[in-house]
Amino acid sequence: MPYQFRIAAARRCVLTTPLNSQRGRNYATRSSSSPASLPASRRSPQVETMSRRAAERLLRRLGPLAVEPPARVQKRTFSTTATHIQRNPAYSVLNSDDVSYFKSILGDSGVVQDEDRVAVANVDWMGKYRGASQLLLLPKSTTEVSKILSYCNSRRLAVVPQGGNTGLVGGSVPVYDEVIVSLVGMDKIISFDNVNGILTCEAGCVLENLSTFVENEGFIMPLDLGAKGSCHIGGNISTNAGGLRFIRYGSLHGNVLGLEVVLANGTVLDMLSTLRKDNTGYDLKHLFIARRNLGEILSAFEFMDHHCIDLAMKHLEGVQNPLPASPYKFYVLIETTGSDESYDKAKLEAFLLRSMEDGLVADGVIAQDISQASNFWRIREGISEASVKVGAVYKYDLSIPVEKLYDIVEEMRIRVEVLGYGHLGDGNLHLNILSSKYDESVLAQIEPFVYEWTSAQRGSISAEHGLGLMKAEKIHYSKSPEAVSLSMVS
Ligand code: MLT
Ligand code: ZN
Repeated sequence: MPYQFRIAAARRCVLTTPLNSQRGRNYATRSSSSPASLPASRRSPQVETMSRRAAERLLRRLGPLAVEPPARVQKRTFSTTATHIQRNPAYSVLNSDDVSYFKSILGDSGVVQDEDRVAVANVDWMGKYRGASQLLLLPKSTTEVSKILSYCNSRRLAVVPQGGNTGLVGGSVPVYDEVIVSLVGMDKIISFDNVNGILTCEAGCVLENLSTFVENEGFIMPLDLGAKGSCHIGGNISTNAGGLRFIRYGSLHGNVLGLEVVLANGTVLDMLSTLRKDNTGYDLKHLFIARRNLGEILSAFEFMDHHCIDLAMKHLEGVQNPLPASPYKFYVLIETTGSDESYDKAKLEAFLLRSMEDGLVADGVIAQDISQASNFWRIREGISEASVKVGAVYKYDLSIPVEKLYDIVEEMRIRVEVLGYGHLGDGNLHLNILSSKYDESVLAQIEPFVYEWTSAQRGSISAEHGLGLMKAEKIHYSKSPEAVSLSMVS
């Protein structure tokens, strides 16, 4: 159901930050040659794609709004998702008194009606989902968030909370005319306990800024994502983002120690002192650890097919392949994070040697320093950025038994242009279908086949990106009716 938000915004969160063993970090990918020197940038692609100018280009490309004026009862069809949602007529329509009230609590600068700025917040970074909100609010404190939500609740104004707007399933933008509450102004680090490795910060902190901060203190964030330069920690937590270090540090359920949350009716829940660990999640590391003995230092085990590498080379500026052009079908990027550099390096080298002797690995290269390692990561993290440059990308994010992980890619390749990559260590496949534009006929080749196939393997249709608008109605492919109704109650 649209317009129901149980948790509107987490203001503050406390995360555990493991000790950083940067000096002992090693990275490997497949090659016989020394790594070529690549640009050191690891900034998120989203920083560039969601700049004002880029967003304007995006809006021009999208053409006129597909949404009717919000005053009437509407039925909206998302051509790319075949999702049918009606605007609930019980929700009010924004008026000038509402705007005046918001100005009285946020000041003029916290209430944005400027069409260009609101338009940017209405569209997701893939250009796939677009709402028709007329108002963007920029609170700076829990009290302000609480006042906004309390007012919206009493006025029955629909709200969408927004972080870095890097989501991939249409969850971060309005469906219709919801008021957008952006946490971009709540970006302060509140405290850091460098004895216990506990960071307390506001929800709008950009992940990369937090990483830099804790790394300077000798720690490491337990979460790393391609979108790190734009995504907010609040969004990461509310979607339980998985990312590149999941294999080592597990899900955010286990790393978030406390939260301060504002409910949809404005009530502030202070759970900052609550130690709550819930280590659920898909963790296949032991499959790799037991045989290869990398377990104690393994922090990432990523894979990409050669189509991904080709695409990255074609579309990512300044990126070079550290490997000789080769016919290899798959590439893996392994990161280890240990506490003794020479010991860990020796371990990784022994692992590669054994893997090559066993015929599992054809070739490989080890990054010699952090800059080379960043260059390797730029290729893996840039796949998403490269894929949107093709025109349109249909993204599927599946948990599948690891021995079947690539089968669906091969099945889809018969019908459409497809990339397969993801977090091998977690059994998480990112299946990306490329197309020149979003189109019903392309979608019909993909869905419901992808969901049915995943369901038949008893997999999950959302390993880490969440359901969002894209998959809200598809939950039954992964959950029983009983489990779905239980989730609705809780
Ligand atoms: C990634 O792991 O790169 C992202 O979760 C996948 C994506 O951007 O589609
Ligand atoms: Zn991912």
